[in-house]
Amino acid sequence: MNVFSFFMPTEVRHGIGIVQAEKEKLAALGQRALLVTGARSAQASGALGDVTASLETLGIAYAHFDQVEPNPSLANVEAGGALAREFGPQFIIAIGGGSPLDAAKAIAVLATNSITAAQLYDGDFTHEPLPIVAIPTTAGTGSEVTPYSVLTLPDQETKKGFGQPSLFPKVAFLDPTYCASLPFAITVDTAVDALSHLVEGYLSVRANAASDMLAEAGMRLWGSCLPALQVGDTAIGIEIRDQLLVASALGGMTISHTGTAYVHSLGYPLTFYHDIPHGQANGLLLPGFLRHGETVVPERVAKILDCLQLPSTQALGATLASLFPNRIQLSPEQLDAYVDKTLPTKNVAHSPGTVSREVLMDTLREHFSG
Ligand SMILES: [Fe+2]
Repeated sequence: MNVFSFFMPTEVRHGIGIVQAEKEKLAALGQRALLVTGARSAQASGALGDVTASLETLGIAYAHFDQVEPNPSLANVEAGGALAREFGPQFIIAIGGGSPLDAAKAIAVLATNSITAAQLYDGDFTHEPLPIVAIPTTAGTGSEVTPYSVLTLPDQETKKGFGQPSLFPKVAFLDPTYCASLPFAITVDTAVDALSHLVEGYLSVRANAASDMLAEAGMRLWGSCLPALQVGDTAIGIEIRDQLLVASALGGMTISHTGTAYVHSLGYPLTFYHDIPHGQANGLLLPGFLRHGETVVPERVAKILDCLQLPSTQALGATLASLFPNRIQLSPEQLDAYVDKTLPTKNVAHSPGTVSREVLMDTLREHFSG
């Protein structure tokens, strides 16, 4: 018997113009808000303008922390936490890709607890974090419906996640028009991150009937978008944007229950040391992960390929490689170091079968060794 629990408390509101249409959801959370964004994308997407117009109509006072870095560090979220304690918001509105959404979760804790950002990983918060409204402007992270936050730890030279149920956003507003101005490279990178969440969650040893249902629906939607991703920017209309946004949210709901598997852990050093975007790092590791999966749960890998309408793991590998044509070569020492970093992570334990050093090395070598 596969015993499981299912908990997804985020209220998801989806549709074009949904922020303005449902702005009363903001008023229900209080009269002071902190906006958490990066430097530019929230404004460029149109989401920031919709939110500030709604807040002004509702008479909600707000401050704006617009300094979330790509791959935010502990110091970065501490700066946001300091502004939150100074301003005293009742809730947070996070707008952006994974970085602002994840940073907002850390800031939500730091706003109400006198701890350092490093202590976020202890998971022992005395006070409830501030409620969060999450508005994604990319279709990939799924963070708008997860209780997780992934931050960069410079001293440990990697990224690391923390999470607890109180960090599920209260409301997620999904409007595909906010993704419409994304450069094509970011569209592809984030889409492949969403695929990785769906696939890793589906093959996780923590997968259950409910997460399977979400992952299969997400993979089918994602598969229907793949031809457009292969054509290029001109093929990415609002319908495809919408399908990718929903697939991404389904991926987030999936990993809220399963976590990610070793692909994410193995990808973090590639991002930290080589600036390979997160989704791309995952995408180039996925084929090796699926080949390992075929040795343990072949029927589940077959289901993934069926959902994606692809004939084989080789075909998936070729497809992903064509989306990310740039290659880097890693030295034997780098390969060893990244496998060493990955082996002790819980993501390895959540991956199917026995994940040995050789399994990780094979997965990494495929695209990063000559
Ligand atoms: Fe991810």
